[in-house]
Amino acid sequence: MKKLFLSIVVASLTLASCGGGGGETEAQPEEKKLQAPQKSSDYGEEESNADVPETVEVTIEGNDQMRYNLEKIEVYEGQTVKLTLKHVGEMAKEAMGHNWVLLAKGTDKAEYATAAVQAKDEDYSPSALADQVIAHTETIGGGNETTIEFEAPAKGTYDFICSFPGHYGLMNGKFIVK
Ligand code: CU
Repeated sequence: MKKLFLSIVVASLTLASCGGGGGETEAQPEEKKLQAPQKSSDYGEEESNADVPETVEVTIEGNDQMRYNLEKIEVYEGQTVKLTLKHVGEMAKEAMGHNWVLLAKGTDKAEYATAAVQAKDEDYSPSALADQVIAHTETIGGGNETTIEFEAPAKGTYDFICSFPGHYGLMNGKFIVK
């Protein structure tokens, strides 16, 4: 008798949950339809990279001790990189200017930085060497910040430096594109 009673209870519970489940499955398609257009407008047509945001925001700081706060920046191939350089120090641009320069593959950090020293008139980004640079910010002084936007290059590891005279030895890092 006890067993029979239990199976009736189980049967009615199963029925009840089936009924509830049926109601939920009817509601779900509507929710999905509402979400789908939002996603496609947010992420564009790149279905295969759906998990990777189209834009990545990066903030890197430079200070009065001639240092960046990041040694490495990681992004994904094809992402739009919105990079902000913040000079968190107080020293003037003339004495402790900082910029952020992303060098192309095969560019020698020291050679580029040495050439950049001569290019004060061009804000330490010599136009003659523009093909050795993927992206660069302007040079800023203490308390200032500047933002640039560029497309992440092909997968690989790149160097970034501050090209202000004498800074690249301490102010450099790796820009990794995955
Ligand atoms: Cu610097």
